[in-house]
Amino acid sequence: MMGAAKERSARVIAVTSGKGGVGKTNVSVNLSVALGRIGKQAMLVDGDFGLANANILLGLNADATISDLLSRNCGMADVIQEGPAGMMLVPGHSGSGPHSALGTSERRQLATALRPYAGEVDHVLVDTASGIGPEAMSLVASSDVILLVLSSEPTAFMDAYQLVKVLAMEHSRTEILVVTNMVDDEEAGRQLFRHFHEVVKRFLPTRLAHLGSVPRDDRIRESVLRKRCCLEAFPESRASAAFGRLARTLSDASLPQTDGGDRFFGMEALHAAH
Ligand SMILES: Nc1ncnc2c1ncn2[C@@H]1O[C@H](COP(=O)(O)OP(=O)(O)OP(=O)(O)O)[C@@H](O)[C@H]1O
Ligand SMILES: [Mg+2]
Repeated sequence: MMGAAKERSARVIAVTSGKGGVGKTNVSVNLSVALGRIGKQAMLVDGDFGLANANILLGLNADATISDLLSRNCGMADVIQEGPAGMMLVPGHSGSGPHSALGTSERRQLATALRPYAGEVDHVLVDTASGIGPEAMSLVASSDVILLVLSSEPTAFMDAYQLVKVLAMEHSRTEILVVTNMVDDEEAGRQLFRHFHEVVKRFLPTRLAHLGSVPRDDRIRESVLRKRCCLEAFPESRASAAFGRLARTLSDASLPQTDGGDRFFGMEALHAAH
């Protein structure tokens, strides 16, 4: 059988947060590159339609974006950019478009365009718009794995709780992976996770798992200014080491199986059922 030894089956991982500015894009970008470094093929889809900026963090051009794909100006192959460590980027549309997130029919179109890649990619990471708007939440809920970025500010904590609640109550998604970001050290990250988990467990049927932490590290801000990802600009930094650990944990983890598997790539079938 051709390529049987290398057969891959993409898991779609939506990177989300309640509050904006907690580090979703930096986590998505650096995690994609870190996965590439350990031999995993990652594709990053910039699903933040309000403020697509993953391409900027990677120093890649975004002449063609998801918008062009959706308006059928071009095909997926014209949109995909190759980034560091062989990761692939699908740049998002940025600007005052009609949507700040993908609607259902657009998602179905995107899923159709992505499906041919499902066997070549290990992880599809979707960087999403923050907040609990219906379109953003529906995009997150359609993924195989939900990865919540949680930072230690009190407001971020409450907003993350609201997001977990909406996912549980309105979308029956009760398994969520958490990355604690901008923490002082690993122990502070574990504490933040424990505290959040305790509050969530008290009121919601949700099961959280801690994927790991990224420390607060000025190298991240500096790398953004340099238009490069932290892993490339500062490979020796604490943050880069943390992204490497997250990538290893993620690729070792048996990610939770969701109903019907490949939800995102299976969108057509889901949609047809309605
Ligand atoms: N671990 C970290 N240490 C220091 N600064 C960080 C860290 N993570 C993110 N930042 C900084 O926080 C800011 C927001 O990061 P980022 O754009 O990744 O967040 P976001 O959640 O994608 O935001 P948005 O909701 O606007 O899409 C950036 O200036 C970034 O440099
Ligand atoms: Mg972002």
